This record gives sequence, C-alpha cells and structure tokens, in this order.
Amino acid sequence: MLKYTIFNEKGGVGKTTISANLAAALALRKMKVLAIDFDPKGNLTNYFLTENPIKHKRLEDVFNPDLLEENIVQVRNNLYLLPAFNGLYSFDKQTYLSRQFSPMEDYTYIVENLLQRLRYDFIIIDALPTFNLLTLNAIQFTKYLLVPVSMNFWAMQSMIELDTKIFNLTKVGRIYKIIPNFYDRVTTVSRDILHELRGTFLTAVTKSVIPRRIALEKASGASKTIFEMFPNDPAAAAFKKLAREIMIQ
Ligand SMILES: Nc1ncnc2c1ncn2[C@@H]1O[C@H](COP(=O)(O)OP(=O)(O)OP(=O)(O)O)[C@@H](O)[C@H]1O
Ligand SMILES: [Mg+2]
Repeated sequence: MLKYTIFNEKGGVGKTTISANLAAALALRKMKVLAIDFDPKGNLTNYFLTENPIKHKRLEDVFNPDLLEENIVQVRNNLYLLPAFNGLYSFDKQTYLSRQFSPMEDYTYIVENLLQRLRYDFIIIDALPTFNLLTLNAIQFTKYLLVPVSMNFWAMQSMIELDTKIFNLTKVGRIYKIIPNFYDRVTTVSRDILHELRGTFLTAVTKSVIPRRIALEKASGASKTIFEMFPNDPAAAAFKKLAREIMIQ
C-alpha cells in the first residue's frame, strides 16, 4: 500500500487539484484508491460528490475504528473517498484535551492507528495548508509527502523553508516529491524556476510537470476530474504521467 499526503503550507498551489486528478489517474490504471479529504472546507469532496453525506458528522462518529468504513464512499470505479466533515475542525482541540499530559508522540499517531487496517493500493490525503495536528498525523501515517509548487519567484524560498520545517516538525524527515504545478511553457519564468528547483532539490522534483490549463480550472468548477471533462487536454496526459511516476516510491 503506497500512501501520500499532499501538502504545502502555501495556499492555492494545487494540492486539491493534484489530489483529485492523481487519485483519478491511479484509479484509471485499475489501482484501488482511497482519497481522504482532511481539509474541512471540503474542496476535494466537491470534486467527486455534489452532496456530502457526512458533512455534519462529529469527530467521534468518523474517527472510530468501528465506524470508519461506513463513512467511506465509493465515488468512481476503483476510487473511494473519505469526505471532509465538520468534526475535523475540532480535531486539534479534542486531541489535546483528551490526551493532556501525554508525551507529544501520542498526539501524532491517532490517524495512523485509525487507518492502518485499511487495504487499498493507494491512499492519498489532501491536507490543509497548515502544519496543524491533523496534518502532522497525516504525515506520520503516510511517511511520504507530495508537495505541489507553483511556478513563481516565491516558490524557491518557500520550498527551502518548508524543507527545514518538515525536517524539524516530523520524524519523517525529507521524504517527499516536489510537483511543479502551473507550468507555463510560453514564459521563461516557469522554465527558470523549474531549472532552479531541479538544481537545488535534484531528483526530489518529479519528472512530470503539471501545466497551467484553464481546463483544470473548469473541471474543478464542474466537480469533475480532468479525465471526465477534458480527457484530451495536455493536463490529462500530465496526470497520467505523474501517476506512472509515483507508482514507484
Ligand atoms: N495547473 C493548473 N492550471 C490551472 N488552474 C489550476 C491548476 N492547478 C490548480 N488550479 C486552480 O487553482 C485554484 C487553486 O487550486 P487548489 O484548490 O487545488 O489549491 P490548494 O493548494 O488545494 O488550495 P488550498 O490551500 O486553499 O487548499 C483552483 O481554482 C484550481 O482549479
Ligand atoms: Mg485544497
């Protein structure tokens, strides 16, 4: 079972877009995929469902080994989703309150203890753009991060800061892939930044690059994956290539 948390502290870099389309690309390759929406805003959930059946549930109604599987919804062929729910907003607070005076490690193994019995080929977790306790739990469980980076001049700086934080805040260390997103092949900016990223982070940068495409924007607006709405768009080809690449960890 391969597990990935899609994370970047920066907002709007394509975490949810990549979670949805990568999960869909893997499912098209006949992999059994579980996508998990750990952002209570529920953007990933909206990609796959028009109505979220568990939106109003409390944390204890979902984060319970006996109840977990009944909250997982099959959303496409081979593709399953644990939707976002309101209880996620209280994860950090409830965790602290219920485990006061415990060693710090106890706080970060909750998700791992909850999910480790599940059997899928892939688990993909779409995280919030903050290092909160839920995110740290996701990282502890998956051990592996996929970090989408937008091709602008702040990308390098924020990636260096993120690298340090990942190293300091998680026991996982530097186990990640950087996914260049919003790549615009007609501007030199994208090319220069990609070159710089590869020069600094070497093979941690995926060979696959996700192009800036209106089709991705339109598909997300219509609650569809790129394969359902624009299967011939270059972005669909890019996600297929990315899926092939991350199938080997
Ligand atoms: N390669 C791309 N080309 C064009 N639009 C894109 C691309 N990637 C993402 N977008 C668009 O950019 C917006 C932000 O993307 P997304 O929601 O995936 O980012 P995010 O990192 O999950 O944001 P947040 O931090 O708020 O969770 C969305 O409208 C999405 O459709
Ligand atoms: Mg998001």
